[in-house]
Amino acid sequence: MRFFLDTAVLAEIEEAAAWGLLDGVTTNPSLMAKAGVRDFDAHYRAIASITPGPVSAEVLSTTYEGMLAEARHLYSLAENIVVKIPFIPAGVQAIRTLHAEGIPTNCTLIFSPLQALIAAKAGATYVSPFLGRLDDIGHEGMELVRQIRQIFDNYGFETKILAASLRHPQHVLQCALEGADVATMPFAVMKQLFQHPLTDKGLAQFLADYQKLHAGA
Ligand code: G3P
Repeated sequence: MRFFLDTAVLAEIEEAAAWGLLDGVTTNPSLMAKAGVRDFDAHYRAIASITPGPVSAEVLSTTYEGMLAEARHLYSLAENIVVKIPFIPAGVQAIRTLHAEGIPTNCTLIFSPLQALIAAKAGATYVSPFLGRLDDIGHEGMELVRQIRQIFDNYGFETKILAASLRHPQHVLQCALEGADVATMPFAVMKQLFQHPLTDKGLAQFLADYQKLHAGA
């Protein structure tokens, strides 16, 4: 399973890349706003130059023609850009055209397995089910990943499941168990993947025991 960072903060992307844990980056207009980005094109180029994998950049238009124009422009910024398109009828239409042009897409705001099926039929490279937002309204987000996995396997779709809106390491674990292709997560969640109190306690004990031995020598 690939690990993507769900952020537009360059320092976070640089740190995860240095860990060797960064397979890609996803952004959205909210994350760009949160990072205080003004020049979107320059920022996408900067992210793409640091990231050793796909970088999702989202269109802002909601019309077919508008999304196509934006997608072609975004894809021209860097060769690892994947164009993020919302799951609306015009978006699905745009995904079909972009697929024919060889421009990779990430169909976003997926909340049902049939939405994912439609996006895959249109030729989306990725679908992004938003698990945390389903959990937030009392549904079981992970069930969505399970059902999409089954549908894609039933019919041999090559569209990748990019599990998004992950809130904690348990989400990442469940995604791995359910066969998501990618988990995109906030920087804080990626950091949490390293942490276990017994690892810290065990290391402290090893070092303390070595110090005792050294002190007695
Ligand atoms: O990038 C899309 C998705 O991961 C958003 O997550 O936390 O805003 O629901 P969240």
